[in-house]
Amino acid sequence: MTLPLINKFQSLMNETPISMHVPGHKNNTIGNLNQLNINMDMTEITGLDDLHHPEDVLYKSMANISKHDDYETFYLVNGTTAGILSVIQAFAYLSGDYIIPRNAHKSVFHGLELARGNAFLMAMDASDDTHQYLGPKYKNIHHFKENHKLAVITYPNYYGECFDIKSQINHLHQLQIPVLVDEAHGAHFDLEGFPRSALNMGADFVVQSYHKTLPALTMSSVLFIHKDAPMKQQVINYLSYFQSSSPSYLLMSSLELAHQFYKNYQTDLFFERRQKLITHLEQQGITVTKVDDPLKLCLSHSAYDGYELQALFEAQSIYIELADEKQVLLVLPLWHKHDNYLYSELLARIDRIQLTKQPIKIPERQITTTDIGYYTYSVNSKTRKINIEDAKGEILANHIVPYPPGIPIMLKGEKISANMVELLHYWSTQNLRVEGIENNYIEIKDE
Ligand SMILES: Cc1ncc(COP(=O)(O)O)c(C=O)c1O
Repeated sequence: MTLPLINKFQSLMNETPISMHVPGHKNNTIGNLNQLNINMDMTEITGLDDLHHPEDVLYKSMANISKHDDYETFYLVNGTTAGILSVIQAFAYLSGDYIIPRNAHKSVFHGLELARGNAFLMAMDASDDTHQYLGPKYKNIHHFKENHKLAVITYPNYYGECFDIKSQINHLHQLQIPVLVDEAHGAHFDLEGFPRSALNMGADFVVQSYHKTLPALTMSSVLFIHKDAPMKQQVINYLSYFQSSSPSYLLMSSLELAHQFYKNYQTDLFFERRQKLITHLEQQGITVTKVDDPLKLCLSHSAYDGYELQALFEAQSIYIELADEKQVLLVLPLWHKHDNYLYSELLARIDRIQLTKQPIKIPERQITTTDIGYYTYSVNSKTRKINIEDAKGEILANHIVPYPPGIPIMLKGEKISANMVELLHYWSTQNLRVEGIENNYIEIKDE
């Protein structure tokens, strides 16, 4: 029998890869995961408690993962995804719609489909720096007045950009709308010099992927539930539906270790090394965009697009988080005293990158949809094709995805507005590559 995965890892390890991506333990060079032992991969034997009825050691362990007095902590062993699905499902039987941002993670859309829930799509601000969706447009939130059961907000965005989430939560609360903050990329927030977590802003539910930015094993996340959050018991019940009945003790132990790391972490060395890294990158002619979260850096170059930059880094066995047409995104390590991260080697490899091409014009990203919208979940597969000119009021049967960058900007299930017809028409006539449009035709739901 061949072992394709094991073989692949062996060859990868032979090249001594340097991680600039998640998970936060960076190939086990950051944090204290060496304290884990594969022998600890046990089950609910006497003394090890039960995640689905925690009363003893797991109860105590979760109680120690405290970031704010108003919140109770729940371990997630199926990632932040499990927390998002559970919260959305808990509100399924209440009347009204959900409210979601256009940059909601796919788990939010999966949750809506399972809960058979429709959602208002919030109007969005876009970032001038990264060209990504930033956060919901505050002034449009007043649009949501009544009969909304739950709002989901992604904070920060994938690229580490933040916005005034406090005002948004306050406003939604004034309208009696509870708020789930998807803080998947913010488990390290509130460390000195880093942005504030939504845990300080009164969100009802905050879910954090510990594994992404802190040194925890992949899939180890935490759901924080506010003491006054509605549907609390229903959410807790659904955690048992959406998570394995055999939760991994290695993952749960890694959460304990990651939280201890977070509590003791001093940020001085991190900022020192980050500055030196930026200097080395800039000496290579790379433009470094600093976003709100210091853990993330966006790199661009006048002669290379993001994918070419990624290839140059990978040629040095430096693996980045993601590339788009404009830039690459680095997720930095939380460097600490006595870590095993190959920091000097990283700088040496960056110095070796050859950037010799002449500047090119990188195409500006096309206009994106930032308007308010309406998303209808559907499990109905009947569709038909229509001319864009006749599309107003119909429901899209496919995502509309311009390339580059390949991110859906109109969503399957979204009701087509007059503005969207105009934009679809523009793309269709400009000869741009847009998945979902063919010869001025799109596919809609036929219900
Ligand atoms: C914004 C956001 N939310 C949720 C998730 C899901 O997190 P997990 O991988 O921990 O399930 C991700 C994963 O990339 C994400 O980027």
